[in-house]
Amino acid sequence: MIRQCNDDDFETIYEIINDAALAYKGIIPGDRWKEPYMSGEELRHEISEGVVFWGYEENEKITGIMGIQDVQDVTLIRHAYVRTAERNKGIGSKLLSHLRRMTDRPILIGTWADAVWAIRFYEKHGFRPVSRVETNRLLRKYWRIPERQVETSVVLVEH
Ligand SMILES: CC(C)(COP(=O)(O)OP(=O)(O)OC[C@H]1O[C@@H](n2cnc3c(N)ncnc32)[C@H](O)[C@@H]1OP(=O)(O)O)[C@@H](O)C(=O)NCCC(=O)NCCS
Repeated sequence: MIRQCNDDDFETIYEIINDAALAYKGIIPGDRWKEPYMSGEELRHEISEGVVFWGYEENEKITGIMGIQDVQDVTLIRHAYVRTAERNKGIGSKLLSHLRRMTDRPILIGTWADAVWAIRFYEKHGFRPVSRVETNRLLRKYWRIPERQVETSVVLVEH
């Protein structure tokens, strides 16, 4: 079942992000990695900026989460994370398909350039990475991330 997360799910979202983000350890640039990957304060900030999290729930346990955020004229898919033990079962795909149906706006997805599995996952769903120049332009326009993260990220758009 896919449902919108609420305040009571905060700790679960936090836990899933920081479990799933361990996939980045040793892969993304060392100066971008920290543990926990996302602090509670950062997560709270993201929610206050309009990121709405949806969760995939099975037997009353959330196994994956994905955020959606309308910014200006586009919709961003933010913070896609499936528990390490629950990967490759189609949970990420179901969440992505669900969120895509929720918007008529162009969808943009940003991820680490080094997260090849994530890029492949989005490509399988019909998204394509844009050029370096366009990535930089889009990240500066629609995201609020440090310049160093701009350099090390890629943006994918619907094909
Ligand atoms: C990226 C991520 C969210 C995808 O979630 P997921 O639930 O593992 O995704 P799915 O299971 O839908 O798809 C992943 C793979 O499993 C395969 N798959 C889908 N359903 C399947 C099933 N029922 N049985 C077996 N394999 C399946 C898919 O074909 C896909 O294959 P690929 O690796 O060749 O692309 C997840 O891997 C994750 O949390 N990664 C770490 C954090 C991260 O990189 N997040 C992205 C940030 S933007």
